[in-house]
Amino acid sequence: MSQQPVFSCSDVHVYVADREVVKGVDLTVPAGEIHAIMGPNGSGKSSLVSAIAGHPAFTLTGQLFLDGEEISELEPDEKARRGLFLAFQYPVAIPGVTVGSFLRAAVSARRGQDVPVREFRRELQAAMEALEMDRSFAGRYLNDGFSGGEKKRLEILQLLLLQPRFAMLDETDSGLDIDALRIVAGGINQAARGGEMGTLIVTHYQRLLNYVEPHVVHVFINGRIVRSGGPELALELEARGYDWLQPEAAAAGGVS
Ligand SMILES: Nc1ncnc2c1ncn2[C@@H]1O[C@H](COP(=O)(O)OP(=O)(O)OP(=O)(O)O)[C@@H](O)[C@H]1O
Ligand SMILES: [Mg+2]
Repeated sequence: MSQQPVFSCSDVHVYVADREVVKGVDLTVPAGEIHAIMGPNGSGKSSLVSAIAGHPAFTLTGQLFLDGEEISELEPDEKARRGLFLAFQYPVAIPGVTVGSFLRAAVSARRGQDVPVREFRRELQAAMEALEMDRSFAGRYLNDGFSGGEKKRLEILQLLLLQPRFAMLDETDSGLDIDALRIVAGGINQAARGGEMGTLIVTHYQRLLNYVEPHVVHVFINGRIVRSGGPELALELEARGYDWLQPEAAAAGGVS
């Protein structure tokens, strides 16, 4: 197996509405690893993953590599075709487009060929069963009237079907009840189990990490990664909050 990381970035800065919200991030995620980013509200976590995916509201400088190829300048849809995946914190509703047709189009784009309807239906059903989703879900309009938990399950359904190279999940655990959390975490583990995908999870709470054990936890304060460690770092954050890391953030130039 190659030692090349699935995803890496260097000196990433992100600007939104003329403000620098990400101030120099370097990150390397090898195949088969799950990395978690934790940090205070407004520290720039969503801006980082949205800008990496190519969200037009953000301007990104620095370099992004997927499977060793530079993707910094690519359009968002081309990044997605190459296997970059972002599950949004606030997914949008698209009335008139069913879950099933949306997913088939997305999977076809990712594979570079039209996936036959029957074959797709089989794959979809298997993935929906794994996530304990009702069959009728596939016929509903995208995110239209979905509960918070249903939206989150849809994200993981996409993850299972698209089989991305590098998946970024932004607060996939927010608003989930205990059972849904377990099921969603199971979906993430299932997607990651092949050992070929890299995963970056943005989360506020240690509880998701009880089910999806990260290899590395990064603490993100004021636009920078100020500390990285093992899963025990998430436990420490849960117990102590972020204040004790302020000196490190300041040393990194993080407190402006
Ligand atoms: N589209 C936008 N327009 C203007 N400002 C924005 C936009 N998106 C983000 N910001 C600002 O960028 C900063 C970082 O926000 P971001 O959403 O990245 O933080 P976060 O770490 O994800 O926070 P949370 O934990 O609350 O989700 C905030 O001050 C926010 O107001
Ligand atoms: Mg956020």
